[in-house]
Amino acid sequence: MSAKIFIDKYIKQFKAMNPKYDVIYTVSKDDPITFEDSENVKLSMAIIADTHLPNRESAEKNLANTFEDIKNSKESFDAFLMAGDIADYGTNNEYERFFRVLDKQTAVDKLLVTMGNHDARIFYKNSTKIIKDKIKAYLDDKTGKIYYSCDIKGYTFIVLCTEKRMLEKAHISSEQIAFLDRELARGTKDGKPVFVMCHQPFAETHGLPEVWKTGDMGEQNDEVRAVMEKYKNVFFINGHLHGGIFEKVAEVINEENNVHSISIPGYRKENNFGITDCGVGYFCEVYDDRVIFRARKFISGEYKTGDYTRFEYKLI
Ligand SMILES: [Fe+2]
Repeated sequence: MSAKIFIDKYIKQFKAMNPKYDVIYTVSKDDPITFEDSENVKLSMAIIADTHLPNRESAEKNLANTFEDIKNSKESFDAFLMAGDIADYGTNNEYERFFRVLDKQTAVDKLLVTMGNHDARIFYKNSTKIIKDKIKAYLDDKTGKIYYSCDIKGYTFIVLCTEKRMLEKAHISSEQIAFLDRELARGTKDGKPVFVMCHQPFAETHGLPEVWKTGDMGEQNDEVRAVMEKYKNVFFINGHLHGGIFEKVAEVINEENNVHSISIPGYRKENNFGITDCGVGYFCEVYDDRVIFRARKFISGEYKTGDYTRFEYKLI
């Protein structure tokens, strides 16, 4: 490693640790979110991932920007999805900051969250308890499980989550896989799309393993994928890779059945490929015949344009 690379890396790491260098974003009202066909939209959601929230006021403010951006729009949003790695280390202070923002927001109706490996790897029990309590509070879920499903405006959402402390991957029990199977069967029976969320993506999707050697779901990967591939119009939302808006953001999981996977960029930090901006997620518009995902820099209230910023899927 040359001296310059070493020094640059050191400075970057130092800045990342030091609140003094935090950028606090403001939300522009110049170009608010508009749907492509507001009259006919049946369901809408904003999706972010990997907030890795540190115990810092700046990060809390920057997260609140997402809801401010949604609120600035004239469109109504039914749900907010956060695809895991809520907290950076999983401390109580970090969760307090994250959930203070969610508890206060009035921009969306339903809040769906899941744990990522950063939530699960150190304080597994404590994080699980905090997040289960929130699932219960936000969705009136009485199962007491860390994985769950809910119906919003007649559409089914299924949220998968590791049931064990893991460093990076997820442990999905056979009970959870059976639950996924049942809920997919129920949610797709009338031909409607179903949205599944898990922090970790499938192996060999979104540029894996090149983009991140150990970035896949883990041991139950093939089993979970096989279940998802059985059903029609399934959209799998995941995070974890911090890939940015790049050529591997969207992946076809099963062409015949119209099963797709979307890798949501990391919110908190700069991403690794393509458009690397932090604070970017996707919002989703669901119509009777199609589903559209569009990139949005929620942290500052801006559209991102260019390749891979819009995906449209015809429903079958
Ligand atoms: Fe992660």
